[in-house]
Formats: sequence, structure tokens, C-alpha cells
Amino acid sequence: MIDAFHRTEGDINFSPARQDWYALIRNGETARYLEEDERYFLHQSMSTPCLDVLHACQGIYLTDLQGRRYMDFHGNNVHQLGYRNAFILDRVKAQMDVLPFSPRRYTNEPAIALAARLASLMPGSLNRVLFAPGGTSAIGMALKLARIVTGRHKVISYWDSFHGASLDAISAGGEREFRKGMGPLMPGVERIPPPETYRGIFKGDSDLLYAEYLEYVIEKEGDIGAFIAETVRNTDVQLPSQAYWKKVREICTKHGVLLILDEIPIAFGRTGHMFAFEHYGIEPDIVCLGKGLGAGVIPMAAMVTRDEYNIATDVSLGHYTFEKNPLGSAAALAMFDYIEQNNLLEKVHADEIFMREQLQALQQKFPVIGDVRGRGLLWGIELITDEKTKTKAVKESELVMYECLQNGLSFKVSQGNVLQLSPPLTITREELQSALGILEAALSKVFSSQHQVCSSI
Ligand SMILES: Cc1ncc(COP(=O)(O)O)c(C=O)c1O
Repeated sequence: MIDAFHRTEGDINFSPARQDWYALIRNGETARYLEEDERYFLHQSMSTPCLDVLHACQGIYLTDLQGRRYMDFHGNNVHQLGYRNAFILDRVKAQMDVLPFSPRRYTNEPAIALAARLASLMPGSLNRVLFAPGGTSAIGMALKLARIVTGRHKVISYWDSFHGASLDAISAGGEREFRKGMGPLMPGVERIPPPETYRGIFKGDSDLLYAEYLEYVIEKEGDIGAFIAETVRNTDVQLPSQAYWKKVREICTKHGVLLILDEIPIAFGRTGHMFAFEHYGIEPDIVCLGKGLGAGVIPMAAMVTRDEYNIATDVSLGHYTFEKNPLGSAAALAMFDYIEQNNLLEKVHADEIFMREQLQALQQKFPVIGDVRGRGLLWGIELITDEKTKTKAVKESELVMYECLQNGLSFKVSQGNVLQLSPPLTITREELQSALGILEAALSKVFSSQHQVCSSI
């Protein structure tokens, strides 16, 4: 059965609407490569079978085998600086010619410079760094470190949270889709409800009560070493209030629980600040970074923590072959330079104002838009069929997505009904306008032919 539960993380690759999409694009070479992909890769939710076959990318665009171009408003959150950004590529190519790999027992200049750069960008004593080849591994290191620092093994997370796909990360995470059928997981995980931020940009501190769940579980359960959460949930753009995060920080400090913030998809200017926690005036104890850290070129992730937690000298927290990766470090250093030299954070602030105005205007036109919320260039548009019950417009959201795809705009649908828009931060105003035009046309088409639409599912 295909229901909203299957759609927490993103759109799915086995729905009738996906089959309709294949009828449109599955021909010639595309068909042949999609078949080969399906022949050789293990099939899994949300990848094989795949959406299309890519050939190239540049700036905000992906180009497929047939020359069809998509503005990429998803980019797996690696594309803050767009694709094939020449500034990044030059620096990575230069590093490639000198030292492309560094065996674990050695260190190297770019890795040290990147660790120092991260430390300089973080507040307080957050100046100790470990690198990893991917976000999931950074989460694993953070969970281990929290056990060592606190001497307690239990962790609290949100229901429905995602922190990576490995067994430790799905144990700590809360998405049923990733845990189902997996058998025994890592013990000692308690989950609390995530703060509800529907109507996020209009509301005050009504989510503050959710922070009380955290204290309740810490006190009732005992042995809690860490609370792990995304500062802002990326997939369906949940923006807790400042009061919520301040309260959470206070509770964690009071009980000696480490606050681990997962900013893997949302750092490096996505929300208008270098790091999302800066919006809230709080300091985490551990921050996990990844995705865009490698500037859309090299896989790269990091865990940053407090100087005083540099105590696990006889433990391997992250024994990764590609730990101090010089190429990933060169890409990340170039990424920070590019953001600074191009005043990208100021640009994103201005884009946020533009997006808010445009999306609120769209909401006036389409009653099916129950909520628009966002910060920087991270926006969620929630489609509902009934304002009172907040019934999710699941089928319609998927149709809007495929209609946009057909017209050159790619994004993900989260929770079944949240259109998530996260374009490269380098996007021009004209490109943003053009993307919003495609979205508006798709909403018009799907919601003016509602009857027809529903009968085709
Ligand atoms: C919030 C969050 N945490 C962790 C991860 C895992 O990162 P990676 O896929 O690089 O292992 C992801 C990836 O989507 C994520 O969105």
C-alpha cells in the first residue's frame, strides 16, 4: 500500500505517478541506461529505479541524456554553490595534482587548514574537529563521543527524524521507513515528538511546550547522554522557535546531556547564516556537518565539538580511510572562501525576503497551500485539501512535482505533501522567478483539473 507513511523522507519510486513519468521519458538511450541501472544495482526505495539518467551539470542545472535541463531545487543538499563551480573545481584540480590522498597516520596542509577554519567559524570552545567521508559517519562519531564524555549510553531523538542510513544512525533516527524490518537496533534510544511548526513563519513560541517532553524523558528514563536533532528539519522545513531551542539548551545543560545538532543538509548559508544554530543564539556541544562541505564535488563530513571533550585519545572514534581527505578539504576551504568573497550570506538574506513575498502571494492564490515556511533559501510549501483537518494533499503534491519536472524544475516532496525548495545559493533572481513561474503553472494545472487528476491515480 502506498500511503503518506511511505513518503516521510521524499517522493517514492514505485508510485503510479512515477510510472506515468517513465512513459514520458523512457525512450532511446535513456530507456537503455535505466534498464541497465535496474539490472545491476540493488533496488531500493528512493534510488533505483531512478528518475532519469544524468549526463552533465552546471550552475543550478542538471542535464539529462536527452539534453533536458532541470533547475535543481534539491541537489541532495550538496549544491549550495551550484554545480561545477569553477572556483571550486580549480582548487580541487590543483590539489589533485599535488596530494589527492593522505593515509590515515599522516596529516596534510589542507586538512589542518580546514579544521582551523571550522574552529574559527564556531562559537565558544567548539574547536575540535574530526572528519569523515559522509554525514552518517559523522553522526556515528558524535554518538560515540557523547558516550565517552558523559559515561551514559542513552540518547534522545525525535520521532520521524533522519540522521543517516547506517544501523547506528537509523537506531538514533526516528523514521519508521528506515527501521522497519531491520530487527534489533542499537539499544538506549528514546524518542520525543518533534516541535510542530505548521504556520512556522507566522507563529510565536507555541512550540515551547514540546521542549518539556525532553526534560520529562531525561528525568524519567535516566542515563541519557545526548539529545540529537536537526536544528531545522531539512526535508519538510520545520523551523522551531528561538524560545524552543533556548529552552532545550537550558534543559541539556541542567542535566549534563550533550546537545548534538545535525546540520548536515542545512549549513553553509542555506538558512542565511553559516550555521543554522546561529539563528537561535545557542551553542551546541557537538555539530555534525556534511553534504555541501565538499562543495558538490567531493564527499566530506565533519564533527565539531568542544575543546574540553578532547579526551578519547585511546579510542578510535572514526577510523575512516578517507578521514583527512586533502581533496575534500581543498573543496571545503574553497567553499568557505567563495561564500565570503561573494558575500553570499547577504545575498541569501535578500533572497529570503523575495521568496517569502512570492510564496505568500502564491498562498493567496491557491487555498490548497496550507503553509509556507522557510529561512534563507530553504522553503517548504505544504499542500492540504482541508484547512480544518489539515488533510495532506498527497496525490496532488506528487502530480505537482512531476508537472514541474516535466517543465524543468526538480525538487523533492517530503511527508507526502511538503514541496521542498532548496536551490543553489548562487541562483540569480531571474532564475528564482522562472522556477516560481513553473511552480505556479503546475499548481494551476493540477488544481484546476482536480477531477481528472484524481482519476488518473
Ligand atoms: C539530517 C541528515 N543527517 C544525516 C544525513 C546522512 O548524511 P550522508 O548521506 O552524507 O551519510 C542526511 C542525509 O540525507 C541528513 O539529511
